[in-house]
Amino acid sequence: MVLAGQEGASTNMRTQRTESRDLLHTRTNMADRKDESWRPQLHAFGQGSLETAKASIRRFLDLQSGSIWRDVSSELPHVRGRALDVGCGAQPFRSLFDQSVQYVGIDTIYARMHFGYHLPDTVYYDGVAWPVDDGWADFILCTEALEHVYDTDHFLAEARRCLAAGGRVLITVPFSARWHYIPHDYWRFTPSSLKKVLTEAGFSSVVVYARGNEITVACYKVMALIVPLLLPQGKGRVTAVMLRLIGIVLAPVVLMLAVCGNLSLRGRGGDDCLGYTVVAQGGEPR
Ligand SMILES: C[S@@+](CC[C@H](N)C(=O)[O-])C[C@H]1O[C@@H](n2cnc3c(N)ncnc32)[C@H](O)[C@@H]1O
Repeated sequence: MVLAGQEGASTNMRTQRTESRDLLHTRTNMADRKDESWRPQLHAFGQGSLETAKASIRRFLDLQSGSIWRDVSSELPHVRGRALDVGCGAQPFRSLFDQSVQYVGIDTIYARMHFGYHLPDTVYYDGVAWPVDDGWADFILCTEALEHVYDTDHFLAEARRCLAAGGRVLITVPFSARWHYIPHDYWRFTPSSLKKVLTEAGFSSVVVYARGNEITVACYKVMALIVPLLLPQGKGRVTAVMLRLIGIVLAPVVLMLAVCGNLSLRGRGGDDCLGYTVVAQGGEPR
């Protein structure tokens, strides 16, 4: 039995549900996305003073890269013995190691196809079993790669296996970063999950540092709106010129935000941040 007024109410609810479904259906199904609309340039492969200067300018303008550089440059020069750089890409931090360090960079055979990286002195492997002997590395570096690994538990178990007794790992991951290298970007980690997955993989003394704070993130996000205007991708000639002109007008804003963002990186780090730098100890080999 339908009471007076109930029928009208249920019709209203049905209409609301249809409208909200329509609202969802107007949006892109992100699970079907195969590529990005804009991708930052790869890190330079070259050496020499021009490349070094270009890399420094990039680190000033790209707060993610700059913040990672700041963190790894406080650790890498102190490393001795054998260093393994996993998911090394263009090996952007290799120059920070002491000359005496035996450096090996490894990456997957998919690095070129999915990420655009290919270096002659990188060991490419299937992405599953690391081509490294048990306990070989005194230090493992893994920058901005863990979020691209689907089976992180297995990956960290490999790290633990390859690390010598008393060895250390340094891992960086993004947090406030757009979905990138689509579709090969699987995870965003928090300090809680980083501590848990590393501890469960057998690491100890896990320390997680935030890179930047809310101010850094705000500067980074506004810069991320303007920089693609200066470096348009996939646009027609006329549109590209127009976008560049708008970008040039806004360039002073980018500079101002870069200064603010870089200053904010000197702080202790906040709950909203660009990403995390993790340092952990390997302990005794199992
Ligand atoms: C965003 S790039 C970072 C490259 C470099 N570490 C850096 O900081 O510029 C991610 C890298 O992780 C690598 N990668 C993805 N899955 C991997 C796996 N299972 N084992 C090793 N490297 C992997 C990719 O091939 C790529 O070079």
